[in-house]
Amino acid sequence: MISAQIQTAAYLFASILFILSLGGLSSQETAKRGVWYGIVGMAIAILSTVLGDDVSGYVYIIIAIAIASLIGIIVARKVEMTAMPQLVAILHSFVGLAAVLVGFGSYIDPKAHALSGAEHTIHLVEVFIGVFIGAITFTGSIIAWGKLDGKIRSKPLLYPGRHTVNIILVIISIVLGVLFVQAEGTSGMLYLAIMTAIASFIGVMLVMAIGGADMPVVVSMLNSYSGWAAAAAGFMLGNDLLIVTGALVGSSGAILSIIMCEAMNRSFLSVIFGGFGDAPVATEGAIEGEVTSINHDEAAQLLRDAKKILIVPGYGMAVAKAQYPIYDMVQYLQSKGKEVTFGIHPVAGRLPGHMNVLLAEANVPYDIVLEMEEVNDDMDKTDVVMVIGANDIVNPGALDDASSPIYGMPVIEVWNATNVIVMKRSMATGYAGVQNPLFYKENTDMLYGDAKDSVDKINMALKS
Ligand code: TAP
Repeated sequence: MISAQIQTAAYLFASILFILSLGGLSSQETAKRGVWYGIVGMAIAILSTVLGDDVSGYVYIIIAIAIASLIGIIVARKVEMTAMPQLVAILHSFVGLAAVLVGFGSYIDPKAHALSGAEHTIHLVEVFIGVFIGAITFTGSIIAWGKLDGKIRSKPLLYPGRHTVNIILVIISIVLGVLFVQAEGTSGMLYLAIMTAIASFIGVMLVMAIGGADMPVVVSMLNSYSGWAAAAAGFMLGNDLLIVTGALVGSSGAILSIIMCEAMNRSFLSVIFGGFGDAPVATEGAIEGEVTSINHDEAAQLLRDAKKILIVPGYGMAVAKAQYPIYDMVQYLQSKGKEVTFGIHPVAGRLPGHMNVLLAEANVPYDIVLEMEEVNDDMDKTDVVMVIGANDIVNPGALDDASSPIYGMPVIEVWNATNVIVMKRSMATGYAGVQNPLFYKENTDMLYGDAKDSVDKINMALKS
């Protein structure tokens, strides 16, 4: 219905919108705009593809889009913020499955077999690689979904020699690939099918080898794989937009995974090959110093006396849903002329951007939500730091205890402030299972209790 030129122009425009969308998502102020760019870009992409010259069977297409949109709307409306990773994981599996189906479809497509020489060989290689990546993404994402949703036990499944097994399976797949490319007509179907089974198995084993708590990094990696699977599908179909979009998703997912790995002091390579994230070992060394605690009135008094206050939230804030009373407290302190900011560690919580989303939910203005580097520079000028439900991300051992599992992970150096109040329920360790020497420092006071309850009580004490 539309000419090839118009379609190319529409694809180019959609690609630009996708790039703008990613750019927009890089900061909270522009995130909504970024989402809209993405929505409009995707609408243009779908329309210009469906209206393309070689498309028929509109009734089926419209019915399929209507059913899929309805399911998408219902699921997205129902999903809880805490179940987002599962949703993302299962959506990645669809991309993987689509790449597999496109691969098989384009292999039996008579048009593809009209190609000859190098063109035909390249097409077959595209099909083979596309199906390989797609199958790994498909089954890997289903396992990730199962682990995140508690349907599959989250303990890593590690068996000796699994890396060797994976390498052997990849070598067998390469041999099958050579046979597939050499096969006449569609007689290579068997090789393609066997490779699909092998790749599906690799996907399962790669993700099974990873502990449940490390799934966020894996979901981000699978996001990247799904992008490459889409790009491969783009090559098979000769669709430039799909190649560009796939490459954007693939590379941005990989960059996010690298950022997360660095922020957690993990090796990126071991994530790609599976099997990182074995249960962290707790170190039980003696920590010098004494733990002191304070009550809510004393905490309120410290805040009254302070000029510059920093709040460092962590996973416990998310558990306690304390962001609303925290923002009440911030507004009250600001009305008394105090400078209050938030310091966000890149892996605070259990998801990338976890804290930022929760604070945005409570309407905390973006300009007082600062990154780790920004607050670390100013720490010695800070009068009071309130650590709310955070633990590993404020552990000094990450900087000075080479035996600590989190050694080398950058942390928010709260102990350099004049006073530190740590709000948590007990002396229990955080996600990494390591003791925190911060709690024993002279300028640290523990305020025990549920974070929301504690902030409510401080608010009452401040206002009374
Ligand atoms: P954690 O180190 O896990 O510490 C959270 C603390 O919150 C716990 O020590 C817990 O102590 C406390 N807590 C739990 N419920 C609470 C409640 N209702 N009220 C008050 N306190 C409560 O969290 P973090 O400091 O945010 O660090 C994040 C960790 O997760 C890092 O080790 C990071 O590597 C890891 N991780 C992060 C990500 C991403 S992308 N964010 C992904 C995977 C892993 P009590 O039990 O004593 O209350």
